[in-house]
Amino acid sequence: MTSPVRLRPEIAALPPYRQGAQAAPDAFKLSSNENPFDPLPAVVEALRDAVQVNRYPDATAAGLRAVLAERHGVTTDEVHVAAGSVSLLSQFLLAAVGPGDEVVYAWRSFEAYPGLVTVAGGTSVQVPLRPDGSHDLAAMAAAVTDRTRVAVLCSPNNPTGTTISTADFEAFMAAVPDHLLVLLDEAYAEFVTDEHAVRGESLTERHPNLVVLRTFSKAYGLAALRVGFAVGAATLLDAARSTAIALSVTDQAQRAALASLEHEAELLERVERVVALRDRVRAGLLDQGWAVPEAQGNFVWLPTGEGTAAAARTLAEHGLVVRPFAPEGLRITIGEPESVDALLRACRELAPGASR
Ligand SMILES: Cc1ncc(COP(=O)(O)O)c(C=O)c1O
Repeated sequence: MTSPVRLRPEIAALPPYRQGAQAAPDAFKLSSNENPFDPLPAVVEALRDAVQVNRYPDATAAGLRAVLAERHGVTTDEVHVAAGSVSLLSQFLLAAVGPGDEVVYAWRSFEAYPGLVTVAGGTSVQVPLRPDGSHDLAAMAAAVTDRTRVAVLCSPNNPTGTTISTADFEAFMAAVPDHLLVLLDEAYAEFVTDEHAVRGESLTERHPNLVVLRTFSKAYGLAALRVGFAVGAATLLDAARSTAIALSVTDQAQRAALASLEHEAELLERVERVVALRDRVRAGLLDQGWAVPEAQGNFVWLPTGEGTAAAARTLAEHGLVVRPFAPEGLRITIGEPESVDALLRACRELAPGASR
C-alpha cells in the first residue's frame, strides 16, 4: 500500500531490520551469533535487585564506565556505554557523516552497516572481501577520498569469521588521513585466539582517530539487555554522546554488565568451550571438503554459493536454524554442544562432492 506521507526516499526504500529466524522449541537457533549458555547466577541476582523501574537509569553509566576504564587503562571520559554496539555504530555515524559523505567498509560484513550509513545520510562504499573472506585493507585505504568521513573495520568479520592482522591494521592506519574516523568493530573479540589479530584496546592512544567498539551481547551472553561500549578519545566519544538517545542503557543492563565483569573468569571459561567447539566444527567441515575461512568468532562461514537457500532448508530439516546470505553462503553460530554433531552430519550431506 502506498501512502501520501512524504518520507525520505532512501529511508522508504530501506528494508526494515530482519532478525535471524526464530527456531522451533526442538530446533537449535544458530542464526544470530548468540551465546547458548544461560545467564550466570550472579547476573540473575543482579537483575533481581534491579526492580526500581519507576526511576530512570544513570544516563552516564558511571559505575560501569569506571570499571571498564580501569580495565582498559584509560580515563572514564574515554569510555562510552550505549544500548548495544549497534547503537554505538549509529551514534558515531550520526556524529561524523552528513549528506553526500562516504563511509568505507568491507563487504560482505555486518548486515547492519548499510542501513546505518543510509539513516545517517551517508553513502556506503563497499570494498569486496578478499577470496579468503578477509578485509582487503589496501583496497579499503585506496577507496578513501576527500568525501570519506568514516571507515568501519570488523574483526573478526561477521559473517566470514576472519580477523585483521595487527600488521595490516597498522598499514591501513598509516595510509589513511588522521581526520578519518576509524571504527574498529570487535563484537567478537573475546573469541579470538590468533595472536596476530589486531587488539584494538591497546591502540587508541597511538591512533587518536580510532574508536574501538565492544559488546556484552556475545561472549558475555547479555544480548537481550542491550549494552556495549566504546573506547577512544574523549572528544570523539563526546560527539557520540551528543547523538545518543539519552537514558537508553537500562539500570538492569548496567548492573548485569557489572556482575558479568565481576564473574569474568566463569564467563571466559564458557568462551573457551565455544572456541573449542568452533575449532572442532571448522576442522570437521574442512575435512568434508568445505572451504571454510579462518573462524575467529563464535560462528563459521559455509560457502554454499547458489545453493545457499536450499542448504539452509536442509539444515532446518535437521533442526538447525542458520543465517543464509544468498547467493554467498551460510553463517552458522556455534551453539549448544549437542548441536555440533547434528550440524556436522547435516553438512556432510551437503558437502561438495557428497553423493546425494
Ligand atoms: C560485527 C557486529 N557488530 C555489532 C553487533 C551488534 O551487537 P550488539 O548491538 O548486540 O552489541 C553485532 C551483532 O551481531 C555484530 O555481529
